[in-house]
Amino acid sequence: MVINSAAIRWHEDFLELLDQRLLPAETIWMPVHNSKEAAQAIRDMVVRGAPAIGITAAYGLALEAATQGDSASMSKLADAIATLAASRPTAVNLFWALERLQRTGDQLQGTALVNALFRDAEAIHQEDIAANHAMGEFGAALLPDNATVYTHCNTGALATGGHGTALGIIRTAWEQKRLQGVYAGETRPWLQGSRLTSWELSNDGIPVTLVADSTAGQLMAQSKIQAVIVGADRITANGDAANKIGTYNLAVLAKHHGIPFIVAAPVSTLDPALPDGSHIVIEERHADEVRHVHGKPVAPSQVSVYNPAFDVTPAELITAIVTERGVIDSPDTDKVLAHLREQ
Ligand code: MRU
Repeated sequence: MVINSAAIRWHEDFLELLDQRLLPAETIWMPVHNSKEAAQAIRDMVVRGAPAIGITAAYGLALEAATQGDSASMSKLADAIATLAASRPTAVNLFWALERLQRTGDQLQGTALVNALFRDAEAIHQEDIAANHAMGEFGAALLPDNATVYTHCNTGALATGGHGTALGIIRTAWEQKRLQGVYAGETRPWLQGSRLTSWELSNDGIPVTLVADSTAGQLMAQSKIQAVIVGADRITANGDAANKIGTYNLAVLAKHHGIPFIVAAPVSTLDPALPDGSHIVIEERHADEVRHVHGKPVAPSQVSVYNPAFDVTPAELITAIVTERGVIDSPDTDKVLAHLREQ
């Protein structure tokens, strides 16, 4: 089945990824034919955002199986699984997708295995789109009428199968005429907020105001926002949430100003195997992402840099987690595990 979404186009025998490193200046699609190319695209941030990474890994593994044809087997796919799993460490959706495909292919060989992996990758892609629309409805209902919200990073159609998680809630609230506008933090160092979120929202005609990340406190002090809505890369059993670096700062600020802090993520982002956020592996990326902007130096070439891609927001700072199954208010271990048991 051919599936076209904002950043991922599935053509049945190959994948195309919208190169998010070039947006908004250029719209270039990159073809992917096997697991190595998929892993490279994830590592280099051609594709990014937890659900989109998981979808890409699933297609990458299925394409790799197809290169093996009649001799395809899960044991012959072990290296491909290891390569994909090593591409980025923090977003659990990557590991969730690979484990799901491994279960699907467990007893199969050859063409039957290839076909089953293709069908499962397509199902992961489509289920993610449906999950985002459900999240949009649940999340929009939490917002006061005529709200102005603040968001961080990019959690939209580009970061998912389509519609978005936090940005999906914003889209749904806008469709319901319950949203006044959005402040998007630019999200240094990779600028997902300015390059991707403000682009997506502008394209949809949703009023967006771009701000430097350091503006968030001033906006809250001026009562200009009624909620902060962000995504997540991994949510542990107790409700701690890893997300783009700077999310924790926003949660502390929101608590101080009495503003709801909402985390939106599909159930595939919940990781009940980890008891709390201290166990999450936080990816550290290259120093030049901080020393340069668009290839131009903005710091001394050898200055020491600390560049964690994510931080962890403790559950006690989170007002609600929204998934496709509903809302977890004031999350804790009992509530997260009960939510996972619900169907
Ligand atoms: O480094 P990125 O761009 O992959 O980080 C993305 C985020 O932190 C998103 O907020 C998260 O993956 C949720 S996307 C729906």
